[in-house]
Amino acid sequence: MNLLEVSGLKKNFGGITALQGVELTLRPREILGLIGPNGAGKTTLFNCLSGQTRPDGGTIRFCPQSRPLNLAGKRPDQVAALGVSRTFQNIRVFGQMRVIENLWVGRHLVTRSGFLGALFKTSRFQKEEAESLELCYRLLEFVGLEGKANLMASELAYGDLRRLEIARALAAEPKLLLLDEPAAGMNLSETATLDQLILKIRQERGIGILLIEHDMKLVMGLCDQVLVLDQGKTLAQGKPEEIRQDPEVIAAYLGLEVEHA
Ligand SMILES: Nc1ncnc2c1ncn2[C@@H]1O[C@H](COP(=O)(O)OP(=O)(O)O)[C@@H](O)[C@H]1O
Ligand SMILES: [Mg+2]
Repeated sequence: MNLLEVSGLKKNFGGITALQGVELTLRPREILGLIGPNGAGKTTLFNCLSGQTRPDGGTIRFCPQSRPLNLAGKRPDQVAALGVSRTFQNIRVFGQMRVIENLWVGRHLVTRSGFLGALFKTSRFQKEEAESLELCYRLLEFVGLEGKANLMASELAYGDLRRLEIARALAAEPKLLLLDEPAAGMNLSETATLDQLILKIRQERGIGILLIEHDMKLVMGLCDQVLVLDQGKTLAQGKPEEIRQDPEVIAAYLGLEVEHA
Protein backbone atom coordinates (compact mmCIF):
# COMPACT_ATOMS: atom_id res chain seq x y z
CA MET A 1 0.00 0.00 0.00
CA ASN A 2 1.20 3.55 -0.73
CA LEU A 3 2.22 5.80 2.14
CA LEU A 4 0.90 8.88 0.33
CA GLU A 5 -1.47 9.35 -2.59
CA VAL A 6 -2.39 12.79 -3.81
CA SER A 7 -5.09 13.11 -6.41
CA GLY A 8 -6.60 16.09 -8.24
CA LEU A 9 -5.16 18.58 -5.78
CA LYS A 10 -6.15 22.19 -6.56
CA LYS A 11 -5.36 25.58 -5.05
CA ASN A 12 -6.10 29.13 -6.22
CA PHE A 13 -4.87 32.37 -4.69
CA GLY A 14 -7.28 35.02 -5.94
CA GLY A 15 -6.77 34.91 -9.69
CA ILE A 16 -3.59 32.83 -9.50
CA THR A 17 -3.84 29.10 -10.06
CA ALA A 18 -1.06 27.59 -7.98
CA LEU A 19 -2.15 23.95 -8.23
CA GLN A 20 -4.44 22.55 -10.89
CA GLY A 21 -4.70 18.82 -10.40
CA VAL A 22 -1.57 17.37 -8.81
CA GLU A 23 -1.15 13.57 -8.86
CA LEU A 24 1.49 11.93 -6.68
CA THR A 25 2.21 8.54 -5.15
CA LEU A 26 4.85 7.66 -2.59
CA ARG A 27 5.55 4.16 -1.32
CA PRO A 28 6.76 3.53 2.24
CA ARG A 29 10.50 4.23 2.74
CA GLU A 30 10.71 5.89 -0.66
CA ILE A 31 12.52 9.14 -1.45
CA LEU A 32 10.57 11.17 -4.00
CA GLY A 33 12.21 14.23 -5.54
CA LEU A 34 9.90 17.08 -6.46
CA ILE A 35 11.29 19.30 -9.21
CA GLY A 36 9.93 22.03 -11.43
CA PRO A 37 10.59 25.64 -12.39
CA ASN A 38 10.09 28.51 -9.93
CA GLY A 39 6.41 29.14 -9.38
CA ALA A 40 5.44 25.58 -10.41
CA GLY A 41 3.60 25.09 -7.11
CA LYS A 42 6.10 22.96 -5.18
CA THR A 43 5.91 24.91 -1.92
CA THR A 44 2.13 25.27 -2.23
CA LEU A 45 1.89 21.49 -2.54
CA PHE A 46 3.94 21.12 0.67
CA ASN A 47 1.75 23.70 2.40
CA CYS A 48 -1.36 21.71 1.44
CA LEU A 49 0.21 18.47 2.67
CA SER A 50 1.28 19.95 6.01
CA GLY A 51 -1.93 21.87 6.71
CA GLN A 52 -0.55 25.40 6.30
CA THR A 53 -2.78 25.86 3.26
CA ARG A 54 -6.28 24.50 2.74
CA PRO A 55 -6.63 23.03 -0.76
CA ASP A 56 -9.66 23.97 -2.89
CA GLY A 57 -10.13 20.43 -4.12
CA GLY A 58 -8.66 16.97 -4.37
CA THR A 59 -7.59 14.33 -1.88
CA ILE A 60 -4.48 13.68 0.18
CA ARG A 61 -4.53 10.05 1.27
CA PHE A 62 -1.97 9.27 3.95
CA CYS A 63 -1.62 5.72 5.16
CA PRO A 64 0.88 5.38 8.01
CA GLN A 65 -0.82 2.19 9.25
CA SER A 66 -3.54 0.05 7.76
CA ARG A 67 -6.22 2.74 7.79
CA PRO A 68 -5.89 5.58 5.26
CA LEU A 69 -6.53 9.16 6.43
CA ASN A 70 -7.49 12.19 4.34
CA LEU A 71 -5.19 15.07 5.25
CA ALA A 72 -6.87 17.67 3.01
CA GLY A 73 -8.09 20.57 5.17
CA LYS A 74 -6.52 19.37 8.43
CA ARG A 75 -4.64 21.86 10.64
CA PRO A 76 -0.82 21.81 10.88
CA ASP A 77 -0.88 20.44 14.45
CA GLN A 78 -3.31 17.67 13.45
CA VAL A 79 -1.17 16.72 10.47
CA ALA A 80 1.97 16.67 12.65
CA ALA A 81 0.25 14.46 15.22
CA LEU A 82 -0.76 12.04 12.44
CA GLY A 83 2.86 11.65 11.36
CA VAL A 84 3.85 14.28 8.79
CA SER A 85 6.68 16.73 9.54
CA ARG A 86 8.33 19.35 7.36
CA THR A 87 11.13 21.84 6.99
CA PHE A 88 10.80 25.24 5.33
CA GLN A 89 12.43 26.79 2.26
CA ASN A 90 13.37 29.76 4.43
CA ILE A 91 14.79 28.32 7.62
CA ARG A 92 12.42 28.76 10.56
CA VAL A 93 14.36 27.86 13.67
CA PHE A 94 14.08 29.93 16.84
CA GLY A 95 17.37 31.85 16.85
CA GLN A 96 16.99 33.08 20.43
CA MET A 97 16.46 29.58 21.78
CA ARG A 98 19.11 26.98 22.43
CA VAL A 99 19.64 24.19 19.95
CA ILE A 100 18.17 21.59 22.30
CA GLU A 101 15.16 23.81 23.04
CA ASN A 102 14.38 23.99 19.32
CA LEU A 103 14.12 20.20 19.29
CA TRP A 104 12.01 20.28 22.43
CA VAL A 105 9.47 22.46 20.65
CA GLY A 106 9.31 20.03 17.72
CA ARG A 107 8.85 17.17 20.13
CA HIS A 108 5.95 18.82 21.94
CA LEU A 109 3.88 18.98 18.81
CA VAL A 110 3.13 15.32 19.41
CA THR A 111 3.51 14.36 23.09
CA ARG A 112 0.23 13.30 24.59
CA SER A 113 0.02 14.16 28.28
CA GLY A 114 -0.90 17.73 27.41
CA PHE A 115 -1.78 20.67 29.57
CA LEU A 116 -3.36 18.86 32.52
CA GLY A 117 -0.44 16.45 32.69
CA ALA A 118 1.94 19.39 32.81
CA LEU A 119 -0.15 21.18 35.42
CA PHE A 120 -0.33 18.26 37.80
CA LYS A 121 3.05 16.81 36.87
CA THR A 122 1.58 13.34 36.63
CA SER A 123 3.98 10.42 36.65
CA ARG A 124 3.07 9.69 33.05
CA PHE A 125 3.97 13.29 32.22
CA GLN A 126 7.33 13.07 34.01
CA LYS A 127 8.20 9.81 32.28
CA GLU A 128 7.24 11.24 28.92
CA GLU A 129 9.35 14.35 29.53
CA ALA A 130 12.41 12.31 30.44
CA GLU A 131 12.00 10.15 27.35
CA SER A 132 11.51 13.19 25.15
CA LEU A 133 14.69 14.83 26.38
CA GLU A 134 16.64 11.64 25.78
CA LEU A 135 15.18 11.41 22.28
CA CYS A 136 16.18 15.02 21.54
CA TYR A 137 19.81 14.39 22.54
CA ARG A 138 19.93 11.24 20.43
CA LEU A 139 18.59 13.20 17.48
CA LEU A 140 21.29 15.84 17.84
CA GLU A 141 23.83 13.06 17.55
CA PHE A 142 21.97 11.54 14.62
CA VAL A 143 22.21 14.75 12.57
CA GLY A 144 25.79 15.48 13.66
CA LEU A 145 25.12 18.35 16.09
CA GLU A 146 26.30 16.61 19.25
CA GLY A 147 28.16 19.01 21.51
CA LYS A 148 26.10 21.97 20.24
CA ALA A 149 22.98 21.41 22.38
CA ASN A 150 23.48 24.52 24.49
CA LEU A 151 24.47 26.97 21.77
CA MET A 152 21.92 29.56 20.76
CA ALA A 153 20.52 28.48 17.40
CA SER A 154 21.57 31.86 15.96
CA GLU A 155 25.22 30.92 16.64
CA LEU A 156 25.10 27.95 14.27
CA ALA A 157 26.69 27.94 10.84
CA TYR A 158 24.27 27.79 7.93
CA GLY A 159 24.65 24.09 7.19
CA ASP A 160 24.15 23.28 10.87
CA LEU A 161 20.96 25.36 10.94
CA ARG A 162 19.56 23.32 8.07
CA ARG A 163 20.38 20.15 9.99
CA LEU A 164 18.80 21.50 13.15
CA GLU A 165 15.61 22.10 11.18
CA ILE A 166 15.65 18.51 9.97
CA ALA A 167 16.28 17.26 13.51
CA ARG A 168 13.37 19.33 14.78
CA ALA A 169 11.10 17.79 12.16
CA LEU A 170 12.31 14.32 13.20
CA ALA A 171 11.63 15.06 16.86
CA ALA A 172 7.93 14.56 16.16
CA GLU A 173 8.77 11.00 14.98
CA PRO A 174 7.07 11.34 11.60
CA LYS A 175 6.28 8.61 9.08
CA LEU A 176 6.58 11.14 6.27
CA LEU A 177 9.12 13.96 6.07
CA LEU A 178 8.77 16.94 3.73
CA LEU A 179 12.04 18.76 2.95
CA ASP A 180 11.71 22.08 1.11
CA GLU A 181 15.02 22.86 -0.63
CA PRO A 182 17.25 21.62 2.21
CA ALA A 183 20.43 22.18 0.18
CA ALA A 184 19.62 25.80 -0.73
CA GLY A 185 22.56 28.05 0.14
CA MET A 186 24.83 25.15 1.12
CA ASN A 187 28.38 24.75 -0.12
CA LEU A 188 29.57 21.54 -1.78
CA SER A 189 30.78 19.77 1.34
CA GLU A 190 27.63 20.70 3.27
CA THR A 191 25.53 19.33 0.40
CA ALA A 192 27.48 16.06 0.47
CA THR A 193 26.84 15.54 4.19
CA LEU A 194 23.17 16.42 3.68
CA ASP A 195 23.00 13.73 1.03
CA GLN A 196 24.32 11.20 3.54
CA LEU A 197 21.92 12.40 6.23
CA ILE A 198 18.86 11.98 4.01
CA LEU A 199 19.91 8.43 3.13
CA LYS A 200 20.50 7.67 6.80
CA ILE A 201 17.01 8.95 7.71
CA ARG A 202 15.48 6.50 5.26
CA GLN A 203 17.74 3.60 6.21
CA GLU A 204 17.59 3.87 9.98
CA ARG A 205 14.11 5.28 10.47
CA GLY A 206 12.20 3.90 7.52
CA ILE A 207 10.55 7.25 6.83
CA GLY A 208 9.14 8.23 3.45
CA ILE A 209 10.68 11.47 2.19
CA LEU A 210 9.43 14.12 -0.21
CA LEU A 211 12.26 16.37 -1.30
CA ILE A 212 11.99 19.68 -3.15
CA GLU A 213 15.40 20.39 -4.61
CA HIS A 214 17.00 22.34 -7.45
CA ASP A 215 20.34 20.56 -7.27
CA MET A 216 19.82 17.99 -10.04
CA LYS A 217 22.87 15.99 -9.09
CA LEU A 218 21.49 15.56 -5.57
CA VAL A 219 17.98 14.72 -6.82
CA MET A 220 19.06 12.24 -9.48
CA GLY A 221 21.56 10.54 -7.17
CA LEU A 222 19.35 10.29 -4.11
CA CYS A 223 15.77 9.76 -5.20
CA ASP A 224 13.97 6.51 -6.03
CA GLN A 225 11.36 8.49 -7.93
CA VAL A 226 11.17 11.99 -9.34
CA LEU A 227 8.02 14.03 -9.90
CA VAL A 228 8.02 17.01 -12.22
CA LEU A 229 5.57 19.81 -11.45
CA ASP A 230 4.88 22.37 -14.13
CA GLN A 231 2.31 25.18 -13.80
CA GLY A 232 0.59 23.44 -10.91
CA LYS A 233 0.24 20.09 -12.65
CA THR A 234 2.09 16.78 -12.53
CA LEU A 235 4.00 16.59 -15.79
CA ALA A 236 5.61 13.24 -15.06
CA GLN A 237 6.52 10.86 -12.25
CA GLY A 238 9.06 8.07 -12.67
CA LYS A 239 12.52 6.79 -11.95
CA PRO A 240 15.33 9.36 -12.31
CA GLU A 241 16.61 7.82 -15.55
CA GLU A 242 13.10 7.86 -17.07
CA ILE A 243 12.57 11.48 -16.09
CA ARG A 244 15.92 12.56 -17.48
CA GLN A 245 14.92 11.23 -20.92
CA ASP A 246 11.30 12.40 -20.95
CA PRO A 247 10.87 14.82 -23.90
CA GLU A 248 8.08 16.81 -22.17
CA VAL A 249 10.26 17.29 -19.11
CA ILE A 250 13.19 18.40 -21.22
CA ALA A 251 10.92 20.87 -23.02
CA ALA A 252 9.46 22.32 -19.80
CA TYR A 253 12.86 22.67 -18.22
CA LEU A 254 14.86 23.97 -21.11
CA GLY A 255 12.03 25.90 -22.71
CA LEU A 256 12.62 24.11 -26.01
CA GLU A 257 10.09 22.79 -28.47
CA VAL A 258 10.26 19.02 -28.61
CA GLU A 259 11.12 17.92 -32.10
CA HIS A 260 9.29 14.83 -33.15
CA ALA A 261 11.29 13.08 -35.84
N1 LIG B 1 0.08 32.93 -0.36
C1 LIG B 1 0.06 33.16 -1.68
N2 LIG B 1 -0.69 34.17 -2.20
C2 LIG B 1 -0.73 34.39 -3.53
N3 LIG B 1 -0.05 33.68 -4.45
C3 LIG B 1 0.72 32.67 -4.00
C4 LIG B 1 0.82 32.36 -2.60
N4 LIG B 1 1.66 31.28 -2.46
C5 LIG B 1 2.05 30.96 -3.71
N5 LIG B 1 1.49 31.78 -4.64
C6 LIG B 1 1.67 31.70 -6.10
O1 LIG B 1 1.45 30.35 -6.46
C7 LIG B 1 2.37 29.94 -7.47
C8 LIG B 1 3.20 28.76 -6.96
O2 LIG B 1 4.11 29.21 -5.96
P1 LIG B 1 5.03 28.23 -5.13
O3 LIG B 1 4.21 27.11 -4.64
O4 LIG B 1 5.76 29.04 -4.14
O5 LIG B 1 6.04 27.70 -6.27
P2 LIG B 1 7.46 26.99 -6.15
O6 LIG B 1 7.69 26.57 -4.73
O7 LIG B 1 7.37 25.84 -7.10
O8 LIG B 1 8.48 27.99 -6.62
C9 LIG B 1 3.21 31.18 -7.80
O9 LIG B 1 2.62 31.82 -8.91
C10 LIG B 1 3.08 32.00 -6.54
O10 LIG B 1 3.26 33.36 -6.83
MG1 LIG C 1 9.21 26.98 -3.29
